[in-house]
Amino acid sequence: MFIGIDLGTSSVKSILVDGNDTVIATASAPLEVSRPHPTWSEQAPADWWTATLKTLDEIKSKHPKEMAAVLGIGLSGQQHGATLLDKNGDPLRPCILWNDGRSEQECIEIAKQWPEISKLTGNPAMPGFTGPKLLWVRRHEPEIFKQVAFVLLPKAYLRYLLSGEMVEDMSDASGTLWLDVAKRDWSEELLAGQHMSRKQMPRLVEGSAVSATLKPELTQRWGMAKPPVIAGGGGDNAAAAVGLGAIHPGDASVSLGTSGVLWATTAGFAPNKNLPIHAFCHAIPNTWHQMGVILSAASSLTWWAHAAKSTEKELVAELGSEVTEPSPLLFMPYLSGERTPHNDPNIRGAFYGISHDTTRAQMTQAVLEGVAFAFRDCLVALTEAGTKIKAADAIGGGSQSRLWVAIMANVLGLPLSRLAGGEQGGAFGAARLGRMAATGESPSAVCKPPKRVETIAPMPALVQHYNETFRRYRSLYPALKGAFT
Ligand code: XUL
Repeated sequence: MFIGIDLGTSSVKSILVDGNDTVIATASAPLEVSRPHPTWSEQAPADWWTATLKTLDEIKSKHPKEMAAVLGIGLSGQQHGATLLDKNGDPLRPCILWNDGRSEQECIEIAKQWPEISKLTGNPAMPGFTGPKLLWVRRHEPEIFKQVAFVLLPKAYLRYLLSGEMVEDMSDASGTLWLDVAKRDWSEELLAGQHMSRKQMPRLVEGSAVSATLKPELTQRWGMAKPPVIAGGGGDNAAAAVGLGAIHPGDASVSLGTSGVLWATTAGFAPNKNLPIHAFCHAIPNTWHQMGVILSAASSLTWWAHAAKSTEKELVAELGSEVTEPSPLLFMPYLSGERTPHNDPNIRGAFYGISHDTTRAQMTQAVLEGVAFAFRDCLVALTEAGTKIKAADAIGGGSQSRLWVAIMANVLGLPLSRLAGGEQGGAFGAARLGRMAATGESPSAVCKPPKRVETIAPMPALVQHYNETFRRYRSLYPALKGAFT
C-alpha cells in the first residue's frame, strides 16, 4: 500500500493506493487563502498540518487494515511557496504563495543582475517564485529576514513535520530561482546573489528516491506495521504528470486546477530566455519538462460562481451539453495577474463586450473560454520554445466538466482526453513516487498511462470561430495593460 498527499491551494487531498494502482480511499480537507493586501496571497503552515492530519486520520479510521500495510508515502505540493523557518524550525510568518504578486520590483532587479538567468533557472524571474519573495522580505520585513534559518517549499514543510527531515525534490526546487536546473543542484551563484546560502536550503533528492521515514509517533497513530519511507515527491504539476505516465518527450497535459498548467515532458533541459515559460526538472531522474502557467484557471469559475451567487455546476449546466459558437463576450482571467505569457502581476481580469442583451450564461461561457484562450497563449509560447504538442490529457477539478474540456479542445485545436480519475491529480502521482521509493521499481514500470474515458477531438468549424475570437482576445491585453498599473 502507498499513500499520496497533495498539499494544494484549496485543499489537502490524501489517497491510499495498492500495488496495482487501485485507489482504496481518498480524503480531503479544505484550505483558505488569505489576501491581506492587493497582490498578496498567503496561507498559515499550521493549517496545512491540521488538514493533512484530518485526511490521514479519516483514511485510517475507515481502512485500518490497509493502512497497516503502507510501505511508502509520496508528497505533492503547490509550488514556489516561501515557508520561512527560524532556527527551531518554527514558521516566522504566513507562507507567501505561488500566486502572490508583491515581488515585481525584486524581479526587475534580478533581471538586471542576471540578464541570462533562464539559462540556469529555466525561466525569467517572476513574482510568485521563492527567490524574489525572499528579497521582498529582506527589504520590507528585515527583522524576519534576519531570523530565517531555513526556507522550505510547502510540501517540504509537511515532510519536516512528518519526518523531522528538511529535504526537497528536484521538480519543486526548480521553482525557487535558486536551482541550477541542468545540474540538478543548488546554484551557489544564485543563492549568494540573492542573499541566501546553502545552509538555509533543504537537502536535495530525486522525486522517486527515499528522502526520509515517517516519525515513530505518526507510524503508531496511523497503525502502520513499520515506518514507511517518504519519497522526494514532486511539485504538484510534476506529481500529476507521474500519475499520467507523462515521462516521455512529447507527453502533454492541461491542468484545470486553481492554476492552469500546460505541461510537456521534454527531451532535455529546454529553457527559452525570451519567454515567461518554465523549464524545470521532472520528479524522476534525468528528465525535464516545460510548462506554461496561468494563475487563475478553475479559480476563475469559482470567483464567477461567488459573484453570481450560484455554484460552478449550476452555471455550467445553464450552457447545455455543447457550445456551437463563441460567446459574444470576452473574459480575461487575470484575477491574480498573469505569468505565461505576460509575466505581469498588476494586470487584472475583465469582461469585455457587455451589452443590454448580455446574459449570465454568456458570461459563464466567456469565463470558460477566457481560461481556454489563456491556455492557448501558453500553447503559442511553448510552440515558440520549440515544443510540439499533438494531444494532451485533461486533469484538475475543471476537467470534470466535459463541456469545459470540449471548449479547451476547440480553442487549442488539440484532441484532449478525459480520465476516469482526473480529479486525483498530484496525490495519485505522489503515491506512485512513494511506491518507487519503497520498492525500487523503475519509473517506466510504474508510470503507466491511466484509463482514458473519452478523447474529445476539435471540430474544424468551431476551431475556425475560436481562431478568430482568439485574435480579438489577444488584442485586449496590450490595450488594457496600462489601465491596471
Ligand atoms: C506552477 C504553479 C502552480 C502551483 C499551484 O508553477 O505556480 O501550478 O504549483 O499549485
